[in-house]
Amino acid sequence: MSRIQNILEKAEREGAVRRVRPQVEDMTAVGTVDGRAAMTPPLASPSAFEAPEPAAPIATPVPLVRVVTGTRLSPPLLAALSPSTAAEQYRALRTRIVHSETGGPVNVVLITSPGRGDGKSLTAANLGLAMAQEYQQRICVVDADFRSPQQRRLFGLPETPGLADVLLSRATIEEAVIELEEHHISVLPAGSQSAHPAELFGTTTMRRTLETLRSRFDRIVIDSPAATPLADVGILAPLVDSIVLIVRAGYTSKPAIHDAIAAIDAAKLLGVVLNEAA
Ligand SMILES: Nc1ncnc2c1ncn2[C@@H]1O[C@H](COP(=O)(O)OP(=O)(O)O)[C@@H](O)[C@H]1O
Ligand SMILES: [Mg+2]
Repeated sequence: MSRIQNILEKAEREGAVRRVRPQVEDMTAVGTVDGRAAMTPPLASPSAFEAPEPAAPIATPVPLVRVVTGTRLSPPLLAALSPSTAAEQYRALRTRIVHSETGGPVNVVLITSPGRGDGKSLTAANLGLAMAQEYQQRICVVDADFRSPQQRRLFGLPETPGLADVLLSRATIEEAVIELEEHHISVLPAGSQSAHPAELFGTTTMRRTLETLRSRFDRIVIDSPAATPLADVGILAPLVDSIVLIVRAGYTSKPAIHDAIAAIDAAKLLGVVLNEAA
């Protein structure tokens, strides 16, 4: 077990969380992608096989998961995969988050921003990929932006149930989480559009869903809607360990940045990322 992990677990046991000054990172994301899309069928249910009576007690069954191979990642996502300045920047952001000095655990990170188009979704996806590559950890990117879901498109995933369906008891977590085998990452897409995202986020089902995800993954990156004026982020914030605010160079206005920072729980604000589109 790594030293970082030890520190995080110790901090978690002690429940220590302290405020840090927001830091600023510069980022550029560029890239191209080529690949063929294909989907393997979901793993067969154990009941589909005929097995002899076990002589000894069997191990706890591993939850079934949807595994997808050969996905066609969207071009900007290759930024985190190919050697490039963008890839370095995403890795630097990952390192800052993993080594953050908040004193508390950073297992669940919420990505938000003052408005639409700042780069939340792209950053969440690339950050998840950077974490999955370097640390060989179990990473899950969760799309909690029901108003403008992007993760399915970014990762090139098929139309399957997602978080909204889990929260509405229309699907199980196992049915909704998709594992991208080649990239060692899992994605929980937003799923069917919901008319009342804020209400769904405030439910016990949402809390339980996150608890289950915490038990199955080392880190969870949540792509969320804008911090203001919607209630969504305020409702999600108590459920996460840390919040990263994305601002876009030459795009996000200063008053909007101030409003967003004021709306976010300062103790959880890990830093501000300057997303500088090329
Ligand atoms: N650093 C970047 N370089 C190039 N394009 C970017 C960058 N950040 C965001 N974009 C593009 O800008 C658009 C909005 O980004 P997105 O991540 O969807 O924003 P948000 O989730 O905050 O609404 C997308 O088309 C995305 O690909
Ligand atoms: Mg988005």
